[in-house]
Amino acid sequence: MAASGTSRVLVVQDAAFPAELQAAVDARFRPVISPGFAPPPGLPEPAQVLLSASHDAVTGDVLDAFGGTIKVVSNFGVGYDHIDEAACTERGVLLGNTPNVLTAATAEMALALLLAHARRVVEGDARSRDPSLTRIDTSWMSKQVAGSTVGIVGLGRIGHAVATRCLAFGASIAYHQRHRAPPDQEASLGDAAWCETLHALLASSDFVVLCCSCTAETRGLISSAQLSCMRPGAVLVNVGRGALVDQEAVALALERGALGGYATDVTDPEPLPEGHALLRAPRCIITPHTGSATVRTRKAMLDLALANIAAALASSTMPASPNQ
Ligand code: DGY
Repeated sequence: MAASGTSRVLVVQDAAFPAELQAAVDARFRPVISPGFAPPPGLPEPAQVLLSASHDAVTGDVLDAFGGTIKVVSNFGVGYDHIDEAACTERGVLLGNTPNVLTAATAEMALALLLAHARRVVEGDARSRDPSLTRIDTSWMSKQVAGSTVGIVGLGRIGHAVATRCLAFGASIAYHQRHRAPPDQEASLGDAAWCETLHALLASSDFVVLCCSCTAETRGLISSAQLSCMRPGAVLVNVGRGALVDQEAVALALERGALGGYATDVTDPEPLPEGHALLRAPRCIITPHTGSATVRTRKAMLDLALANIAAALASSTMPASPNQ
């Protein structure tokens, strides 16, 4: 049943959702799918909403192309580095996002990548299918999370959830961010050690997990200088954004054996172009930005993204907005 007052609101999406999710949009709004948010010709009425489902850029030019009719950009995700927040503010366009509901799923993906890398799950799978393997290989070794130090870059919601899970696996937790966490938070993470500098965190961690958002300050955070500070054999995990790292430097460090491994759910761009250095690098696991892609989480994200739209159109406070 269409919600009264919103049945004619035109929503432009950059990608369609799977059918069972798309039905929830269709029931409340009139969606038009337009990759890159190019204004589709012959719209039945002015579009009021951009629903950002697949990380296409939302710039001032994109907003202006709709002739000033966009009232809200609703981001299906917590990270909104692909949306020009200042351009939205200048034009009086509201911005919504979906924090909290994806924290557990994203933290699970970080653990999946970390454990898969530590225990060589992907290589082990290939080895098991290799017909030349006729006896158990007693030389096959891997890394253990229990007893190791996991360094978290960005102890926000997702970073904290990753830390609690690593703690349950028997790791010690270190973290780096600008401000030290409150004592009770450190205590709840097994007396997690605050590293005031990124260098200190990199030098003391067996696994480093990037959980921070991508901003002007954090873009390119991990480059060759930072990689050279890491412990021998240490593994870098990324569930933040691909642009947090210099991917060419990571690929080179993997080639040279200077970095133990890279396991990432995010790349820059997404997907990587054929032949990219990271696709050829050894000890590198890449998943296609699917950290939040569980049915339960994606449904909760969409519910929140639609609630943000409804609230913005009704001029009430959005349930989740980075700037409201
Ligand atoms: C987020 O919400 O930022 C995740 O990366 C999914 O886009």
